Amino acid sequence: MHLTDIFQKVDSNHDRYVRELKELLAIPSVSTYSHHRGDVRRAAEWVLNHCKRIGLEAHLQDTGGHPVVLASRCPHPGRPTLLIYGHYDVQPAEPEEEWTTAPFQPTVRDGFLYGRGASDDKGQFFTYLKALEVILAVKGDLPINVKILVEGEEEIGSPHLGAFLQKNREALRADAIAISDGSQFSEDVPAITYGLRGLSYVQLNVQGPRTDLHSGTFGGIAPNPINALVAILARLKNADGTVAVPGFYDTVAPLEPWEREAMKALPFDEEKLKAYLGLESLCEEPGYSALESKTARPTLDINGIWGGFSGEGAKTVIPAKAGAKVSMRLVPHQKPQEIAALLTRYVMELCPKDVRLQVEALHGAEPVLVSRDLPQVQAAARAIRAGFGVAPVFIREGGSIPIVNLFKEVLGLEAILLLGWGRPDDGAHAPNERFSLDDFKKGIRSAAALFFELHSCCCP
Ligand code: BES
Ligand code: MN
Ligand code: MN
Repeated sequence: MHLTDIFQKVDSNHDRYVRELKELLAIPSVSTYSHHRGDVRRAAEWVLNHCKRIGLEAHLQDTGGHPVVLASRCPHPGRPTLLIYGHYDVQPAEPEEEWTTAPFQPTVRDGFLYGRGASDDKGQFFTYLKALEVILAVKGDLPINVKILVEGEEEIGSPHLGAFLQKNREALRADAIAISDGSQFSEDVPAITYGLRGLSYVQLNVQGPRTDLHSGTFGGIAPNPINALVAILARLKNADGTVAVPGFYDTVAPLEPWEREAMKALPFDEEKLKAYLGLESLCEEPGYSALESKTARPTLDINGIWGGFSGEGAKTVIPAKAGAKVSMRLVPHQKPQEIAALLTRYVMELCPKDVRLQVEALHGAEPVLVSRDLPQVQAAARAIRAGFGVAPVFIREGGSIPIVNLFKEVLGLEAILLLGWGRPDDGAHAPNERFSLDDFKKGIRSAAALFFELHSCCCP
């Protein structure tokens, strides 16, 4: 394919691309914090203006929550349309003192761009804007039609996007969707992802006495909500690490032999992973490899726990309240709501009668497996080969993207191309998040190649 002139231009424009991405990363679009609402909108407007500047038709659309950026350029009726999805919102940056440079002052160090959102997901979806810009500059035209949907609520579970898809089904009609919001398998091993885990996230609130109490005066008669909570939490998992919630595994689709073989053949470096994590051993599920456990098996984790006194020194107190956040990663065919209901029933039974337990469902995501045997997937594999210089491996990832299964159900899209340009050690959701400038460049190249590959594979 005639991509040489396009790749050359990607190289010569690289510094400008990095400067532009830094502008976007400097906007603290943390979707979960209401005090950042204005910043979230500013990020949407930045993306909107950028889409317009590169020659797309674009507008902001309100959803009831943070706005969606919709952009398009559809010059070729009769040719395929690629929908591109990304999110401009980011996770909170705390603990900020752990960052070498401030999270919203993007900085280049040693070939990486550091900043919250660099990899998840601003840097990744931005590759498509740069690919479109460069194709238009070099060829004056796009080989296929393009639509872009960039949302601002992914990191809070995309609560308004389902309804938005329903309402905009016609406008979003496409033949394939590309999503770059995950990772390569590892450095220099690009991947196409065919599976994502789902999520069921709940909060447990335990109420003891009406108010905090002196533990000398009332200890022995007043039930302690932290004691009750930890007793409950201690029974969520079995000694071997499996989940103890009755029924939890009932709907789990077993891993097929072919898939286990394929996973075994991947260049997974467990020693390197342990070194990265600072661990001497991993806690994989009995009977499953570490790779299977982290991508294709369900889990339960306590994400946070609070109550009582944890300040300096000692305070003799029986707290009035305690709480915990618990999340479960799901695999086909577990249903987030059913799993939340199973957990709720179980913890209610475990709860001592002298305290009150309330369970709140926070959010969820369906697990997904997407088709691999489609011409569009082959086209994406060739595009990655062109952009990265090596063919991709096929992987499942452990993270979740709540809206993905609705692209299939609401928009009828079978061809869901999950093309992560990041790396597992980019530090998504963690301090010192970064995006390799090399991956940034290869992502732009691959995105550009994808438009041409989809043209040659799928044009009538
Ligand atoms: N980009 C991630 C999802 C992801 C992570 C995909 C790793 C593949 C590998 C996304 O932004 C994310 O963080 N999703 C949340 C879902 C949630 C907040 C409902 C997650 O997985 O925790
Ligand atoms: Mn993401
Ligand atoms: Mn994320």
